[in-house]
Amino acid sequence: MSAEDRIRRLRELKYQATLGGGEARIQRQHAQGKLTARERLDLLLDKGSFVELDRFVTNRCNDFGMEQQKVLGDGVVTGYGTIDRRLVYVYSQDFTVFGGSLSETHAAKICKIMDLAMKNGAPVIGLNDSGGARIQEGVVSLGGYADIFLRNTLASGVIPQISLIMGPCAGGAVYSPAITDFIVMVKDSSYLFVTGPEVVKTVTHEDVSFEVLGGALTHASTSGVAAFAADGEEDAFFLTRELLSFLPSNNLEDPPIVRDEDDPLRMDEDLDTFIPEEPNKPYDMREIIRRVVDCNDFFEVMENFASNILIGYARLDGRVVGIVANQPAVLAGVLDINASVKAARFVRFCDAFNIPILTFVDVPGFLPGTAQEHGGIIRHGAKLLFAYAEATVPKLTVITRKAYGGAYDVMSSKHLRGDINLAWPSAEIAVMGPDGAVNIIFRREISAAANPEEERARLVSEYREKFANPYVAASRGYVDAVIEPRETRPRLINALEMLQNKRDANPPKKHGNIPL
Ligand code: HXC
Repeated sequence: MSAEDRIRRLRELKYQATLGGGEARIQRQHAQGKLTARERLDLLLDKGSFVELDRFVTNRCNDFGMEQQKVLGDGVVTGYGTIDRRLVYVYSQDFTVFGGSLSETHAAKICKIMDLAMKNGAPVIGLNDSGGARIQEGVVSLGGYADIFLRNTLASGVIPQISLIMGPCAGGAVYSPAITDFIVMVKDSSYLFVTGPEVVKTVTHEDVSFEVLGGALTHASTSGVAAFAADGEEDAFFLTRELLSFLPSNNLEDPPIVRDEDDPLRMDEDLDTFIPEEPNKPYDMREIIRRVVDCNDFFEVMENFASNILIGYARLDGRVVGIVANQPAVLAGVLDINASVKAARFVRFCDAFNIPILTFVDVPGFLPGTAQEHGGIIRHGAKLLFAYAEATVPKLTVITRKAYGGAYDVMSSKHLRGDINLAWPSAEIAVMGPDGAVNIIFRREISAAANPEEERARLVSEYREKFANPYVAASRGYVDAVIEPRETRPRLINALEMLQNKRDANPPKKHGNIPL
């Protein structure tokens, strides 16, 4: 064979690999509004940056006629490329090849890029579109999944891991995305569940559609499994690229600093009057966040799940911060099970990846009720407390209004090693709200009074005057400063700069025992 023939053969083989399961199956994929594995990588990565590995890998199965069906690549395209010129490792399952099902070699290809990602300290992005374990391969395929789960776990906290769900992902296969840091689902074309509608019907007699059981909206709003529900595949790639812009490539790096023209000394006079006069009137904490951060850009995560707490990323004079904020506009910003778990995982992610945490506090306490108590609010609320307490990244806190009871302690208080804790003059830092407090400590006086309602109102007002303000906490040094709301942005930027070389550590141990 001449050199030219050899090159021609190589080119033919490479081309053959790009066809995956063949033209008809590619058309079927397109007809379902889905892109192919390669088309997806082209859109996700910087143009022309993708370098493929293992293009000629085929399955090793000799059962069920599989020895006759060797498809180059074996149903997954793997390799590396760049996003905003930063290295990332990727795999993209090809549904046109045996339904993107996971074989021994398919798993080995994924493991290879995960190992490279760990050695080289760069994120892994998985594009999932698969019918699950390759049925013809049996237990070998299950072993392949476990090999991936192990790597997902070992990589957790070392490199960011992002899972995009772009088709089916069912059964045990869900547990790789579940371990990763962020799940992005595509509305109407992706689903995630442990058991599908058929099995559900047999076992619980429930009639449920794929979409309701495990579609993007379900997981982004009800279960909290997905961080994002994208409007189509291109939107999913856009979200992923934006998310990565806030993250370091690994746990030894800091997130990239991206400065823009927003003045670090910019003040916002409107913030001075932003908090309503009436203590129970809701307002949108998102608006405060936007007014404080660079260019009003708040990249929210898990927007539609547990909306009584907000989490997401923003920049302050170019430096990335992870923001956690009670949202008084939803359930008065109360902490419940879902809010605690949502924020706790976010705080731990930020801490693992050197992202300072900025907390805005307006919290009336934990949500009362049997549903919460029986659901384990003690255990779940403790997660958030634990996460804040063990975090060693710079921690900044701004109390805008209520900081009551245990929730005051939890929300990045000074006592949990908050570095700079600021309060607005509207802050109310107390064991509980004035009404509840007065009802308990003055019960006898109120019932003995000639006009109990008048007496209650007088005592509430006295209590509010005395305790529902930031000055008792400030006199103890529990808040470092009471500031004018307009100064919030420059004060936070100054604090962040002051803390840029912060070093803190926890006692040496194998790991803590966070109440799971
Ligand atoms: C091998 C598979 C496959 C699988 C699909 N295919 N799933 N081949 N192993 N798991 C093949 C089909 O034979 C078909 O081949 C092609 O992929 C497309 O499948 P269709 O059924 O035609 O597609 P669609 O109608 O879109 O349905 C998609 C689907 C369905 C809902 C995913 O294929 C399905 O239910 N598959 C089985 C799912 C499953 O039970 N997997 C095992 C779960 S257990 P042709 O040649 O016709 O194109 C599991 C355990 C993991 O995953 C444990 C980890 C701990």
